[in-house]
Amino acid sequence: MDARAINAKLRRREVPSEEELRWFANGLANGDVTDAQAAAFAMAACFQSIGTEGCRALTLAMRDTGDVLTWDLNGPVIDKHSTGGVGDCVSLLLAPALAACGAYVPMISGRGLSHTGGTLDKLEAIPGVSTQVSEDHLRRMMQDIGCAIVGATAQIAPADKRFYAIRDVTATVESIELITASILSKKLAASPDALVLDVKIGSGAFMKTADDARALAQSMCDVANAAGCRTSALITDMNQPLAPALGNALEVASVMRLLTGTAEGRLVDISTALGGELLGLAGLAADATEGAARIAAALTDGRAAEIFARMIAAMGGPADFAANWQRHLPGAEVQRAVKAPSAGRIAAMNGEALGLAVVGLGGGRMVESDRIHPGVGISDIVSLGQQVGAGDRICLIHAASEDAADMAEAAVLAAVSIREAPLSPPPLVHERIS
Ligand code: URA
Repeated sequence: MDARAINAKLRRREVPSEEELRWFANGLANGDVTDAQAAAFAMAACFQSIGTEGCRALTLAMRDTGDVLTWDLNGPVIDKHSTGGVGDCVSLLLAPALAACGAYVPMISGRGLSHTGGTLDKLEAIPGVSTQVSEDHLRRMMQDIGCAIVGATAQIAPADKRFYAIRDVTATVESIELITASILSKKLAASPDALVLDVKIGSGAFMKTADDARALAQSMCDVANAAGCRTSALITDMNQPLAPALGNALEVASVMRLLTGTAEGRLVDISTALGGELLGLAGLAADATEGAARIAAALTDGRAAEIFARMIAAMGGPADFAANWQRHLPGAEVQRAVKAPSAGRIAAMNGEALGLAVVGLGGGRMVESDRIHPGVGISDIVSLGQQVGAGDRICLIHAASEDAADMAEAAVLAAVSIREAPLSPPPLVHERIS
């Protein structure tokens, strides 16, 4: 087999066979496929569908280029994937809550991408925490704690690592089938029994239209279910930040307030919806409604907080994090309140612009080598539909300097619109796909 013949098939609008797709995935991992050939394949796949069967074959072939974990645990192995949003620290709440309900959650997570924050960057805002753990360490955490949120090792789906980098620089990320294969090759490498997908739509999401979100959710559900992993997706709203804060340490602080105080708000509602869905899929609850109630109980009765603290300690963080998180989390040099320029209701928030403002403050990366300032960000953010008076605080900026605060303040004021007319905020969960 050779890459030219496979690309020629795509050019003729034919679908390569399973064997050809497997050869291509192996060639990405072992170098038999050149960058030029991979880029041509990616561009062709943006125009010529490889179909559900081809997408399943490519996904599994990419997964099999690296380690595929197997487990011997006393309960189902389950996982969640989000397509990325702003203020999305659901994983930090959900992993320990699911473990408290009898599931095992080896969550392989990512870093910030564009305007969206990364779960690993958030965890590493906690002094001492390292998310790069060995497979042995991950297995011990599963046995002892029931959950771990860690970075992928170089041995997880190496074909995707190379292919994603090529797609990134050739404007070919946007193919639904290539996104499906990329995400699921990594998720399925942890061999979950059940998976829930949080496909986000709105100003802070990558998917801006309902049709695109639905197509991606359906494609990922079809491929994951065909691969033997019980999977469903919720299409959820990302027209405002999920947490009332954006930025790495600030989002961890939001999570700790919920875990150790009153567990309510959008972040909790979405965590219970996704967790309920997962417990239902995994057979740990009769259905998603009963599952949601079990997640809510674990979040409020202190079990999730206790598991979260053990997970942090096992990853090198402070042993007393649950009790003293305020003392441990880093802050920023400058705090600046942003005032509403007029009275009215919060009518819209450009989530992408808010996320980019946090990147501008140093809370995310412009290029891979950038160092993150864990303490910067935006907190105390108002909600859609909230009434404000002229001069009321709409958020608090945490910056490393007055100049950085000036830039973030201008970005926030441009991102938030205030109108006089009443407004009903959009529902949190738009649709369920299975
Ligand atoms: N995230 C991934 O891991 N892969 C994609 O292709 C898009 C988003």
